[in-house]
Amino acid sequence: MAKKRVGVLISGRGSNMAALIEAAKDKNYPAEIALVLSNRPDAGGLKTAQAEGIATGVVDHGKFGKDREAFELALQAELEKHKIEIVCLAGFMRLLTPWLVSRWPERMLNIHPALLPAFKGLDTHARALEAGVKTHGATVHFVTPELDAGPIVAQGAVAVQNGDTTDTLAARVIKIEHKLYPLALKLVAEGRVRVADGRCLIDGVPVPDAAQLVPTHLN
Ligand code: GAR
Repeated sequence: MAKKRVGVLISGRGSNMAALIEAAKDKNYPAEIALVLSNRPDAGGLKTAQAEGIATGVVDHGKFGKDREAFELALQAELEKHKIEIVCLAGFMRLLTPWLVSRWPERMLNIHPALLPAFKGLDTHARALEAGVKTHGATVHFVTPELDAGPIVAQGAVAVQNGDTTDTLAARVIKIEHKLYPLALKLVAEGRVRVADGRCLIDGVPVPDAAQLVPTHLN
């Protein structure tokens, strides 16, 4: 089957983008990273993508002022020009309007650094520490007009340690993100993910039976 053409939208260093590029090098991976777009000309990830020979573009939101519609029209035009079939938001720090989101039903993914629906929005690691949760993590979900609220495709969890700071916790979560996003994109590109009543149902993949206790019981 032909590989799905994926466009990755970034705003910064692009480590999740790099993880997707790396995964897509496998000849059996069902998607290829065909375009990396940034809303910031100085996003570090652009150089990484160029070094990998991937087409890049900048749609600088600053140039559009408050005109979100024109900004999104420009993004959409780039995605269409490169015949993109699936969009991955990877640290893309602009809110998208329903106009753009509705053009990509079940074809636009986002990675969020928390176990949704907990800790939507920003500063997720600081808020997780403050709340005292014992398990934290990352979520890949389909994008819907409501922020961080679309159907969940996959999640990865880390245990919170006594001495964790936002930095140590972020460092463990990002490692999980780099495994989770390639996995979630693979499932979507293979057409294994169905949405029913707002939930993703995933066909033909093992789901572990074991529950994780944090902290683990000591004998
Ligand atoms: C990642 O942790 C991602 O989950 C988060 O930004 C970081 C981007 O890092 N995304 C959000 O907070 C979206 N609201 P990266 O540029 O190295 O992939």
